[in-house]
Amino acid sequence: MKAQKGGKTAVIGRRQLLKSVGAASLVATCAAPWVARAKAPYELPKLPWPDDALQPMISATTIGFHYGKHHKAYVDTLNKLLADAPDLADLSIEELITATSGNPNRVAIFNNAAQMWNHTFYWNSMRPNGGGKPGPSLLQRIEADFGGWDSFVNEFFKAAQTQFGSGWAWLILDGGKLKVIKTSNADTPIMQDKPPLLTIDVWEHAYYLDYQNRRTDYIKAWLETLANWEFAQQQLDKAKG
Ligand SMILES: [Fe+2]
Repeated sequence: MKAQKGGKTAVIGRRQLLKSVGAASLVATCAAPWVARAKAPYELPKLPWPDDALQPMISATTIGFHYGKHHKAYVDTLNKLLADAPDLADLSIEELITATSGNPNRVAIFNNAAQMWNHTFYWNSMRPNGGGKPGPSLLQRIEADFGGWDSFVNEFFKAAQTQFGSGWAWLILDGGKLKVIKTSNADTPIMQDKPPLLTIDVWEHAYYLDYQNRRTDYIKAWLETLANWEFAQQQLDKAKG
């Protein structure tokens, strides 16, 4: 891998680059199996279910725009941007997000890379006939870390409801404890080496065609009928190694 330094071309190893941006531990704990080996040019990951599978809570029309237009645009834009950034071309999507996070010269690459990753994680965070409570193992963990199931639901609901403008609410593993956080725009917990278990997209494009301004109804339907707790359990198992 080549990098410009002091007017000369310096050859640095991929491992050295990752070490310099602190990405090695991230890759070990957060790499998602459906995109971990992806490198530029990236492909739009397939949906885990048909585009009408979440109806009536989320319509096929919403999925058509959200996945077919918005998610696809992030992938297409990222590929165009990376064509002019050969020093980043060899990174996985997770490594790319970490390497560009906080770099004012790489804002566009970060935004599109993180949005590509976040959306893939979001699709997998939902399933037909989902929602309600998780299986006994994850349920006990949530009850212990949040002080009860209802406390978790209230916290997650509040995070999704109060995220001002565009963003996400997440269930994450942070320092060995489950926590709820919210992030703005494209920001993602994998920037901070905090493995996510589940996420809800609260950008308006996620719900406006079906719910207009009623974000609360979208969050309620999501928690009650769509949350994919089997996926969350898989992420927790993987994060614990
Ligand atoms: Fe979205």
